[in-house]
Formats: sequence, structure tokens, C-alpha cells
Amino acid sequence: MADDRDEDEVRDQHYDPGTDSDSDRLQIETRSIHAGQKPDEETGALMTPIYANSTYEQDAPGEHRGYEYSRTGNPTRTDLEANLASLENADYGRAFASGMASINTVLNLLESGDHVVTGNDVYGGTHRIFTQVYEEYDLEFSFVDMTDLEAIESAFREETELLWLETPTNPLMSIVDIEGAAEIAHENDAICAIDNTFATPYLQRPLELGADVVSHSLTKYLGGHSDVVGGALLTNDADLDERFGFYQNSVGATPGPFDCFLVLRGTKTLPVRMDRHCENARTIAGWLDDHPDVDRVFYPGLESHPGHEIAAEQMDDFGGMLSFELDATLEQASEVVSNTEVFTLAESLGGVESLIEQPAPMTHAAIPREERLEAGLTDGLVRVSVGIEHVDDLIGDLERAIDAALE
Ligand SMILES: Cc1ncc(COP(=O)(O)O)c(C=O)c1O
Repeated sequence: MADDRDEDEVRDQHYDPGTDSDSDRLQIETRSIHAGQKPDEETGALMTPIYANSTYEQDAPGEHRGYEYSRTGNPTRTDLEANLASLENADYGRAFASGMASINTVLNLLESGDHVVTGNDVYGGTHRIFTQVYEEYDLEFSFVDMTDLEAIESAFREETELLWLETPTNPLMSIVDIEGAAEIAHENDAICAIDNTFATPYLQRPLELGADVVSHSLTKYLGGHSDVVGGALLTNDADLDERFGFYQNSVGATPGPFDCFLVLRGTKTLPVRMDRHCENARTIAGWLDDHPDVDRVFYPGLESHPGHEIAAEQMDDFGGMLSFELDATLEQASEVVSNTEVFTLAESLGGVESLIEQPAPMTHAAIPREERLEAGLTDGLVRVSVGIEHVDDLIGDLERAIDAALE
């Protein structure tokens, strides 16, 4: 951010101040469509244009109209950042080139010797940046069972500066008590950052539960169509936001305007898509729960799920991700995920189309088998990102694939 850029002025041009106060806040279904965006004053064009500019005309040296260079700021990105901030009920939002770039930005806050407490089942890419990038810079990480608040508390040290967590987690959909975890972080003067990618702000708003920072992979539900990679950080803390802005500009992992446009288009339908994702996932979880070849179903919406009660308190619904454990060998489970026709065999999640994957040889292949089994990631475990197709077609597809492999 250039020193002489009046950031508030720029933001106000694109962000409807009418949504600022909690009492007269519009509903999230309305904000997802409108927040951060206004018809163009000159042409009336409804959609935020893709401002494909690297640089901007200045009226006099150093005197510009809010934008001077697109790494520092771009109007399409400003609208997206305001839209995302509104969805998370945050005062500030920053968009990045990927979810990993936003995670990296939070780690940029730390110094050599600092310690981070995090989950033993965080996303593999998060585990990799912690252990293979930042341990090299003398940051230390403790990986603990985040469903156990006492385990979190006892992992804290004098040097702990950050508590990083995900909920629900991947692939067992474990649920972390956000309010309890944030309280522990604050008692220890640490920042509590939450990766809210799986839940989305439509289902869970961690800042309202005490978190300091929310991180997103926009690549998933917020983009929603498997056609863009992006990330974001949201916070109510002006100082943190300023530092995020400094790293955003200094490191330069910013999204291009076309990517910002795609995510802005995606968030407009977030609520309707999430309603269908949740409804389909709930129906499929119930069907799998009664299936004779399925040993366990991991879906926080099922009362049998160990995190069900906390999820019911902190989430508005239970999401579109679920896993199930087949009574099957690694090879048989591989056959199931290879034989579906409506579900596509692929990593990633959160798009309108249903995806299926087998964690053992795919997303969690890097974990040694014994360690993987100890963490509950069995050979027969299958993860699905339930899309918004007709649920009967999804159940029929799973039924055919399971029957063919396990007959
Ligand atoms: C929970 C979670 N956080 C972060 C990321 C990283 O996001 P990206 O792929 O956009 O860098 C992923 C990617 O799968 C994820 O699942």
C-alpha cells in the first residue's frame, strides 16, 4: 500500500457503508450478491469490471485517484476484498493468489524462535509450509489434537505467538471448539487464526467466536466452480490488516483481476450452493450410515459424530464434505473411487460438481502407513466433496461403484 493512498476512501468507493453496522446489516444472502459492488456510475454496468491494468494515470507526481500499481491495489480486487470482509462480518479483507499465499502471510507475522500450536490433522499443504519452509527459519510447531482443549493449552509455551486451526478438519471432519481455543490463545497473548475453507462464512464465522484472523482458500466453496485459485485473510484488527497489506504488497502474491472477478461471481451464489451442498451431504451421510459395507461415516451432522454438539452450536449447518470408511482393502477402495461416473476422481473440493478421493494413496500419501493408521486414516477411507447435482444420481452412483468393487 502506498503511503499516500487513502485506503478508506478507496474502500468506500466500492463498499456500501450501509452494511457497516450490525443492527442494520443486510442478510448474508443479500450481502453475498451486493456487498462491495455498485453499478458503474458512468455506464450503469452491473458487474464489477475486470480492471486489466498494471498501472494507473497520475494527475501529478504522487497524486493518483486511489490506484497507482496493481500489485498494491486493483479495483476488481478491492470489490472482492470488501465482499469477502462483509461475508465474514470482518472490518478488513485482503485477497491473495492462493490459500497457501494467505497462510504464508500469517506466518510472515512471526520471527525466528517463535512457536506455533496447530492441529495434528491440518491440511497437508499447511503442514508442509510449517515443517518444510518455516522450520528452516527457526519457527517451531507443535501438532496436537485440537478437539482436546487441554491438549491445546498444555502445548503453549512462553514463545507461542500463534494458534492455527481448521474446523471441520480434513478428512475426518473433526470439530474444534473455536470459542474455547480462541480463549486459550488470548490468555497466552497469542493470535488465533482459523482456516475457514471447509465451512465458509455462510456456515461459520470464526471472528464472531473470538478468532483474530480468518484464512480462506477461495479455490473451494467461495469460488465454487473449480475454475480459479485464490486466498483471503479477514480480520477486525486494523494493525493486523495493515501488516497483511504490507506483506501483500511486499511479497506480491496477489490475485489478478480476472481471478478476482471469478470469485466475486462465485460468492453471489454461495448461500444457495451451500444450502444444496449441505442438504445433499446430509442425505448421503444418512444413506451411507445404513450401508452394510460402510463401517463408519464422518459427517458432523450425524448425531454419532463426536463433534456434533459443538458443530451444532458454532455452525449454521454441517457442510458438504464427508468421509466414510469402507469395510474394504486399499485396492477395493481404490476400485470404488475409480468406478464412479457422476463423482469425479479428483483432489480439491467445494465446486458445484461432486468429487471423490481416497486419502491413503492421494491427499495423505506422504504420511507413513503406520502413522496414517494411527491417525484414523484407514486404507478403506473415502472422502467426498458432495456437489449440487440431484442427490438420487449421487447415491445411485455410489451404490453402483461400491457394489461393483465389493460384490
Ligand atoms: C483447508 C485448506 N486450506 C488451504 C488450502 C490451500 O489452498 P490453495 O490450494 O488455494 O492454495 C487448501 C487446499 O486444498 C485446503 O483444503
